Amino acid sequence: MDKIVSLCKRRGFVFQGSEIYGGLAGVFDFGPHGVELLNNLKRAWWKANVYDKESHYGIDSGMFKHPRVWDASGHTSGFSDPLAECRECNTRIRVDKELGRIGVTADEKMSEEAINKLFDEHRNEIPCPKCGQKNFTPARAFNLLVKSNLGDFTSEGNEPVYLPGEACQGIYLDYKNILDSMAPKLPFGIVQIGKAFRNEISPRNFLFRTRELEQADTQLFIKPNENKEAYEKLKQDRFDWYVSIGIKKENLRFKQHENLVFYAKDAWDIEYNFPALGFDELEGIHDRTDYDLTQHMKFSGVDLRYTDPESGEKYIPWILETSVGMGRMFLAVMSDAYYEEEMDGATRVVLKLHKDLAPYRVAVSPLLKNKPELVAKAREVFAPLKKQFGNVAWDDNGNIGKRYRRQDEIGTPYCIVVDFETLGEEKPELKDTVTVRDRDTGTQERVAIADLAAYLLK
Ligand code: GAP
Repeated sequence: MDKIVSLCKRRGFVFQGSEIYGGLAGVFDFGPHGVELLNNLKRAWWKANVYDKESHYGIDSGMFKHPRVWDASGHTSGFSDPLAECRECNTRIRVDKELGRIGVTADEKMSEEAINKLFDEHRNEIPCPKCGQKNFTPARAFNLLVKSNLGDFTSEGNEPVYLPGEACQGIYLDYKNILDSMAPKLPFGIVQIGKAFRNEISPRNFLFRTRELEQADTQLFIKPNENKEAYEKLKQDRFDWYVSIGIKKENLRFKQHENLVFYAKDAWDIEYNFPALGFDELEGIHDRTDYDLTQHMKFSGVDLRYTDPESGEKYIPWILETSVGMGRMFLAVMSDAYYEEEMDGATRVVLKLHKDLAPYRVAVSPLLKNKPELVAKAREVFAPLKKQFGNVAWDDNGNIGKRYRRQDEIGTPYCIVVDFETLGEEKPELKDTVTVRDRDTGTQERVAIADLAAYLLK
């Protein structure tokens, strides 16, 4: 994990939020290379979940929502983690995670009573991570919603408007608008990538557990009781997608939840074998039945039933959900692509990212940056490629070996070098050809400048 964190900072992928002020725990910024990888991941995910599917509608809902939404969803009462505080130094711990660390199965969905029973049995095995004492308060449920004072001009904290605890609530609020504007027939999907905020007690493990996150959600609306087959298909579909973007199958597995969160009838995770953590939740796939729409119908007083076009019957559709944090997806993809290997007698770090995900499609270099004729020719190669592909890097920093090492660490699949042979000075037959180096094998090919775009597309 330390190596990935260090690479992310060194190569402009991810920075600690507010770093010059000492950082803000649980918040990260994506740098120039990170935002490209993130956007490529979002594009690939959107393609698979909107364009490649029928009757799947994308939305982008407002982040702030009416205060009643979080009562209806159950978050004001049931969205919490078990927290205990060290009586010696006031450090807070997440009791389920500390129990997990000593091999005791517990999770945040257990009742306060159940988790305190386990905690009491194992207190003397759990030292405070800061002072080492074992003098904790009992565990209590700590609500994770983040409050804002939007529209509250009284400074008295009346009726907080919360930041979203989960992005998918925006989908339930727009479900009726989708029915009215798009006239979809069941089954249909509503899809969104949206921000969520959680007052995580102990944000840790880099992008794995953050306080500000982005969730890529699909909500599949189905006929009541038609959940079983569709749920299995959805689980497999999501697993296969991770393999299709290059994640190794052996680093992925399914895990069923033992304790269910308040809205779910069945819940499975796709787990990834994260560095330093081992297998842990990457994506949640939940059978939410009619819970959410029933709650919103009750709290809003608006009829959210669907009218079956064949039978005329009115009912609340059931919902199958897939939800993945973009940060966790990013971390899984980075970790899976990270290699340290011997090449040309030295150890190199290389990100073997799927070529469609890499921040740059290709980097272009003049062999020497102090030879104007090489630079001018390399610029002639660079400009049309940049115009066509967009994500093309110009790299003339350091010697050519250093450039290859740098582009390997960024995950650039190809490096094009314009050399003296390109100018046709020594071998006229090589005039207007360049070398193209392959990131994964380090092998180099000579390709005519006129064929470069087609070569890269292929
Ligand atoms: N709408 C369902 C929902 O929010 P969840 O299991 O709480 O379910 C879904 O979250 C996904 O969001 C998780 O599988 C994980 O990828 C991501 N996630 C949740 N909390 C996170 C956090 N604090 N930091 C980063 N990612 C998080």
